[in-house]
Amino acid sequence: MKAKYAVIFICIVALVIIEKESNILSRVSDKLIQRQTPQQTPQTPQDYANTTESGSLMVLKVLLSKMSVSDGNYSNFSEEQEEEELDDFDTYGYSGGRKHVLLMATTRTGSSFVGEFFNQHGESMFYLFEPLWHVERMLATAAEANNGTVLAEIYRDVLQALFLCDFSLLEKFISPPPQDHVTPDLFRRESSLSLCEEPACTPVIKDVFERYHCKTRRCGPLNLTLASESCLSKQYHGIKTVRVRQLETLQPLVKDPRLDIKIIQLVRDPRAILASRMVAFSSKYQTWKAWAHDGQVPEDDEEVKRLKGNCDNIRMSAEVGLSQPHWLRSRYMLVRYEDIAQYPMQKAEEMYKFTGIPFSSQARDWILKNTQTTQEASGIYSTQKNSSEQAEKWRFSIPFTLARVVQKVCGPTMKLFGYKFVNDEKTLINKSISLLEHRQFQFH
Ligand SMILES: *[C@@H]1O[C@H](CO)[C@@H](O)[C@H](O)[C@H]1NC(C)=O
Ligand SMILES: *[C@@H]1O[C@H](CO)[C@@H](O)[C@H](O)[C@H]1NC(C)=O
Ligand SMILES: *[C@@H]1O[C@H](CO)[C@@H](O)[C@H](O)[C@H]1NC(C)=O
Ligand SMILES: *[C@@H]1O[C@H](CO)[C@@H](O)[C@H](O)[C@H]1NC(C)=O
Ligand SMILES: *[C@@H]1O[C@H](CO)[C@@H](O)[C@H](O)[C@H]1NC(C)=O
Repeated sequence: MKAKYAVIFICIVALVIIEKESNILSRVSDKLIQRQTPQQTPQTPQDYANTTESGSLMVLKVLLSKMSVSDGNYSNFSEEQEEEELDDFDTYGYSGGRKHVLLMATTRTGSSFVGEFFNQHGESMFYLFEPLWHVERMLATAAEANNGTVLAEIYRDVLQALFLCDFSLLEKFISPPPQDHVTPDLFRRESSLSLCEEPACTPVIKDVFERYHCKTRRCGPLNLTLASESCLSKQYHGIKTVRVRQLETLQPLVKDPRLDIKIIQLVRDPRAILASRMVAFSSKYQTWKAWAHDGQVPEDDEEVKRLKGNCDNIRMSAEVGLSQPHWLRSRYMLVRYEDIAQYPMQKAEEMYKFTGIPFSSQARDWILKNTQTTQEASGIYSTQKNSSEQAEKWRFSIPFTLARVVQKVCGPTMKLFGYKFVNDEKTLINKSISLLEHRQFQFH
């Protein structure tokens, strides 16, 4: 481990020297500060490092540039100005009527499904599925060197740029680097309706590139300039991500007067998340499986600490949100996946109402079709038993030993969200006992 950090340190030192000469550093930071208009994607080929060894170099360059950007310049609002500026934020005057929704979740909370509620809105929605995947893939190892703070800032900046329809920062993290702003490698492009429709969907020229195809139609590799144009032509912008750890880190984004952001934090019972991850990411969760088998969990193990860390992050974000700080007033909503599973239409309506985006008939139709919701009783009645059943399957797949560990390390998180503890296996698997307390989270 030590050797690894030594190598990283040497690389950084070397790069500082290189940077001083090449001045790329300031170029990158200028870009970040200037907040160029969306169509301005990186102009010169030199903006891209070369394909092979470039990946890690570029990472460090970006990291370094971030470190050199002082917080002061970075956000247009200094601490002192903050209070006065707030009234301006409240007028939402600068977004030009555009509305931005960030669905903030963690893996296995049903965020892909809930993201669809927005993706399916219709032609005035531009939705992106997990763009930060590229950033994490490129920076995860480098970020170990600086405990995630810088990574969080980069996440925020990429989200900010994307909400402004500017793909240039994201481009720096796509690997291999896009050629002339065209890439066949955008993560989960097919999960974004607008990237699979005109104008972002271009005709396929070479038939060999199967992976360029969207689900419903075949498209050429993604031209990010066209993606940006498509984005600019739409009034509503949605992004779903599972990579933002702390709500607090998004503060400058929320305060950006060019954006009218609403954040929906999606949470789920941590026991269900663990159960679901053990299935979905089977090989990564071998340790947990071994523990389940042994009936013994060493509570000081890194895996357990990671679980605790995840739960704490989710809880702390929610605490910030629910405490309704001035900067976040009327911009935060907490939703439990379990409630959505039970009342999808009603919850979708609430979420749309919160965002100020009209709940379109397309979105409604999609939900009807995909949740077995029936339209009786004023359209908000769902076949509850059926969808709760889905949402509660985990109770039969997680061994009680593990459920107990989750309760121990995620206790405060579970309490905050109203997930009931169980004291024995019988209760865990007794379907007539609900593990969900009724909660109405405030968000106005
Ligand atoms: C970088 O890429 C350019 C164009 O792709 C090439 O001409 C140049 O030789 C490369 N430089 C290095 C150091 O690999
Ligand atoms: C690491 O985190 C600590 C607080 O947890 C902070 O004081 C420190 O500045 C961080 N270091 C870096 C390099 O971000
Ligand atoms: C991408 O789209 C833009 C805007 O229409 C166009 O000018 C550019 O030539 C396209 N790029 C490629 C490589 O086709
Ligand atoms: C949901 O309900 C339908 C029809 O009532 C049934 O066919 C299906 O198996 C149910 N799904 C689950 C997961 O219970
Ligand atoms: C499940 O819980 C209910 C309500 O507490 C109880 O009446 C029932 O006997 C329990 N079923 C089993 C199989 O333990």
